Formats: sequence, C-alpha cells, structure tokens
Amino acid sequence: MSDHHRRGTFGSNMGFLMAAVGSAVGLGNIWGFPYKMGNNGGFVFLLVYLILAVFVGMCVMMGEMAIGRKTRQGPAGAYRALSQKFGWLGWLAVIAGFVILCFYLVLGGMVLRYAVGYFLAMFGVDTFGDPASFFGAFLTNGWSMVAFFALFAIINAAIVMGGVEGGIERFNKFAMPALFFLLLIVLIYVACQPGAGEGYRYIFGVNFEPLKTDFLGVVKTAAGQMFFSLSLGMAIMLTYGSYLPESENIQKNTVIIVAFDTLIAIMAGMVVLPACAAFGLDYGGGPGLLFATMQMVFHNMGGFIGNLMGFLFYFLVFLAAISSSISIMEGTVATRVDRNFRENKGGKSGGRRRASLIITIAALVLGLPVALDGLGSGIAGGALVNAPAQILNIAVHGWNDCWLDLYDMISEGILMPLGSLIMALCIGWSWGTDMILDECAKCGVKPWGRRFFEVCYKVITPIGMLIVLYGQIVSFFG
Ligand code: PHE
Repeated sequence: MSDHHRRGTFGSNMGFLMAAVGSAVGLGNIWGFPYKMGNNGGFVFLLVYLILAVFVGMCVMMGEMAIGRKTRQGPAGAYRALSQKFGWLGWLAVIAGFVILCFYLVLGGMVLRYAVGYFLAMFGVDTFGDPASFFGAFLTNGWSMVAFFALFAIINAAIVMGGVEGGIERFNKFAMPALFFLLLIVLIYVACQPGAGEGYRYIFGVNFEPLKTDFLGVVKTAAGQMFFSLSLGMAIMLTYGSYLPESENIQKNTVIIVAFDTLIAIMAGMVVLPACAAFGLDYGGGPGLLFATMQMVFHNMGGFIGNLMGFLFYFLVFLAAISSSISIMEGTVATRVDRNFRENKGGKSGGRRRASLIITIAALVLGLPVALDGLGSGIAGGALVNAPAQILNIAVHGWNDCWLDLYDMISEGILMPLGSLIMALCIGWSWGTDMILDECAKCGVKPWGRRFFEVCYKVITPIGMLIVLYGQIVSFFG
C-alpha cells in the first residue's frame, strides 16, 4: 500500500463535506459571530463579512484544499513538497492550530458545563442557582473550569484517535445535520417571542453609520472572524483535502462549505441578537453573550420548556465545538503521523494514538491559564491566575486583558492571516493560479472563474490580509 492509502481517505464525498463543514461550523459561528456582530454595528459587520468570505475566504479555502490533495501530505510536508523554501509555512499553520486548540478546548468545556447543567435541570436538579450571577461565579471557579476543560479534551482525543474514517467522518455525518435542525428549532422559538423584530432590524436594516466611526475596526474584526470561522490559515482544509479522492470536485465543495458556514453563522446571529432584543438585553454583551445572555433567555422562558430549550441549544453548540476541535487536532496529529509513515515508525496507524495523547496533554497544560484567569477577572476578581496585563503590569489592550485574548491574537490575529497571505502570494505570483485550477479539474469538470481567482490570489486576498495584520499591529501598540 502506498503512504497515501495508509494515511486513510474519506469514505465518501458526503463524509468529506460533513467533516469540512464540521470543522468550519463551530464556536466561531455560534459564539463568536453573534457577539462580534453585536459589537460592530450589526448590518455593516454582516456586509463586510460576506464580501470577505467571497473574495478572500473562498480563494484561500480552495487553494488549501487543492494543495493538500495535490501533495497528499499534512501541512509541513505539503508546503515542502511545493517549494523547499516554504516548508515553514506548514509549521506556522501547525503552531497556529495548536495555540487555538489550547483555548478552544477551554471554551468547549464551558459549553459542556452548560449542556450538562440544563440536562440535569430537566430532571429537577438545579446546578446553576441564580442565572444572573452564575456565569461570573463559574468563570472564577477554577476547579469546575478545569474539570470541564479536561473532560472536553478527553472526548476530543478519543474521537481523533479513531482516525479519519472511523472517528472523524462517522461523527460528523450524524452531528452536522443534527446541529442544523436543532438551530432551526431554537430560531423559530425565538422568532415567536414578542420584541424579537428589533434584533432582525439590527442585522438586516441598512445602516452604514458604524463604518464611519471605525472602519478599520469593523474590517479587522470581520476578517479575523472569517478566517477563524472557515478554519483557514491553519492547514485544516489542506489536511482534509489530502484525504480527498481525485474524483471529487474541489470547487463545488468549497462553495458549499463557505455557504453553509455563513448560513449557520447568520442563523446563530438570528437566534442570539433577536433573543437579546426580546428579553431586553444588550447586544454588546461581548464574549459572554452566548453564556450569560442566552442563559437569561432560557431562564425567562422558564419551567421545563426553558430547561429543554437550554439543553438543546448548548448541546448543539457542543456538537459544533467538538467537530471543530477534532479538526484542529487532526491538523497537528497528521503532521506527526505523516512523519512516522515516512520513517516507518508507529505501526499500522502511524502512531496516531500516541500523537493524539501527547498533543492533548500539551494543550491541557498550556490551556490552564486560559481556564484559570476567569476571562481576565484575575486574582483580585476571585480567579486563580492573573491575566497577562496584570502579570506584566501594563496597560490593558484587547490582546492582553485575558489569556484567551492573547492566544487569540497570536493565532487568529497574526499566524493565520500571515500564513494565508504568503500562501496567496505564492499561488498568485509563483506557483500559479493554474496549479490550483488544474488540481480542481482532475474531477473531470472544468473549473470556473479563472480570471476571478487570479485577481484574488494576486491582489485582493493579499490586501485583505494586510488590512488584518495592520489592524492587529495598531491595536497592539495603540
Ligand atoms: N472554524 C471553527 C469555528 O468556527 C474553528 C476552527 C478554527 C477550526 C481553525 C479549525 C481551524 O469554530
């Protein structure tokens, strides 16, 4: 058997699509998108996001998938195979992935806590107490945070150890459709609440005011969000592409993934923001929106229905989160497994179990400060660890107010856009757009939009990424 076959391939295109959609649809869509839209002017944020998804996101995703399939390697090997000089691009992506994993598992643990809490509540066991103060109390309860963080990490590792077809594919084929329908139910419920209309007006009502006050801020936030949400710049799509048979249509898959990811994000926005409007809560609630605010919503619903809806909602967020975190880990694990195959180590699975275990332990250790600083409350606020700004005793910025934001700035803010910037430039100016489109053409269908993609790779995508990086630097020093 060739290495390529030993690495595993997806059993069907549906399995591949579900896995890629599973990776893309996650906390970024359901937790990040609504609160960032709530903080950045609603309509304009949505508009900028959509433009970026088409002109930047789609191109980068197609490029990653094509490079993965062409080289049949994980991130580091893939870039090395294309050009000796650019092997480090793959490593950049692997590091970005690992940094994200460290905080993603913490957030996943928090979601798990809420899902478990509502599950118990359905049977009359109340673990929340006063909903208005629960979030703050939970955040600074180090033991509880770490316990759920670890639990989430263990579930995550168990799935990745199962490998591509047995673990990842099988899980997502069930989880993604379930997620869609659960989200739809909650959306319809919220739509029936009096007052929800104001929330829709905020999202869909034409209003360019916010762009006038903070253009760079809106663009930077939307672009970072788009990268994160589409799982780009971390070689995830590259890794998944490397498992994709040549008969499958990369372009078509790309469009479906981008469209579905955007749909879920907008649906989540149409749940969270109208719910805020209906229950008199603030759109700008920030990162806590999904937790604190939605909990108030379910509390206001009251009784068994409230608990049931709460459980359904957080359970679907859990599904979305775990299908993303397994992909984040797969990128890192595949790098090791590929290397083992090359060196004929690790037996039949290429040491997959061992690699998964080691990476999980490393993520647990490095994720600890994220779980223990109470999202920036620090020791004075009852948490066990201080935030970076408090430790360094410097002014508070968006990147150092808590450990999560520091990790986020390093990965989503710098490494992901930087890696994609260089990738787009390489494709546009050196490897050639045709290399990507020729790979796409292998399925037998002629690719569309050659000119479009060429202009994007050469100019539009790099400019988009430069704006993100510039925005980061400004907020770093500003
Ligand atoms: N796209 C995922 C989400 O929206 C997160 C993710 C980022 C997954 C990067 C893989 C790679 O939650």
